[in-house]
Amino acid sequence: MDKVSIIGAGLVGSTAAFVLARTGLCEIVLIDIQKELAQGKALDIAHAMPSLKNDVAIHGGDDFSLIKNSDIVIITAGTPRKIGGKREDLFVVNKKIVTSICENIKKYAPESIVIIVTNPLDLMARVAYDCLGFEKERVMGMGNELDSLRFAYFIREYSQAMYKEIDTKVIGMHGEIMIPVPEISTIKGIPISEVLAPQEIEEIVEKTKKGGYEVFNLLQQSAYCATAEAIKIMVQAILKDTKEQVCACVLLDGEYGIKDVFLGVPLVLGRKGIEKIVQVKLTDETQKELEEAAKEVKELLK
Ligand code: LAC
Repeated sequence: MDKVSIIGAGLVGSTAAFVLARTGLCEIVLIDIQKELAQGKALDIAHAMPSLKNDVAIHGGDDFSLIKNSDIVIITAGTPRKIGGKREDLFVVNKKIVTSICENIKKYAPESIVIIVTNPLDLMARVAYDCLGFEKERVMGMGNELDSLRFAYFIREYSQAMYKEIDTKVIGMHGEIMIPVPEISTIKGIPISEVLAPQEIEEIVEKTKKGGYEVFNLLQQSAYCATAEAIKIMVQAILKDTKEQVCACVLLDGEYGIKDVFLGVPLVLGRKGIEKIVQVKLTDETQKELEEAAKEVKELLK
């Protein structure tokens, strides 16, 4: 059976573990520096499996050797966003955490595909990639897929379309300057820019950009349910080799005219990880926004 390890047993990590366990697709390992937390969450999730008739093993602990031979490792650990806290503070602290996790991934799961969820996402993906030394097809960040779910949520609010009819794409940074892309987001295959009024689209885009903050402000902590679902979408595509198109943060090597920057774009996921970066035709305005995002990521990494 395939094995997925999740680093960080906080709300994001443990909810992702539960959501993944419910699929019955893989054995799951939950790692946290708080050993009992990881063990307790794993045990609670395991106790739910008889109801689903899912005979999957779920283990928790603080010992990285548990992740041995994982097919996928998901990094969720890190200092979470704080009210009024500076993004840069998060970068310095989480860089250390992500680096030490990646040292262990190199040691115990050198063949794995690594999905980074820790914020600031686009910067952490870079940090992980540099530390891991894996080929770029096996290192990616999950942020845009969460943004895309939120984009779909707001499109439904305005259009009354059903979710199965909605396909959304959000590219660029996972942050305030994310780029929900109306020209490649569709209802029944028709771009929303042809279905909804420009004013409506503007509102939907704004709401999407603020979606994470809205949840954070209400909960005083980061979102975790939609986050876990977005993680599941990526894991399923990889394990089942669906070649599904998702938006994720990857190392661009000339695609969209951008080089050597981790940024969110549409891509095809399969058993080998990133199987193809999809280059869609963007409007000049969207292309410019993407280039601005690349500049911002470079600037923040300095
Ligand atoms: C979010 C943050 C926490 O979008 O990444 O919810």
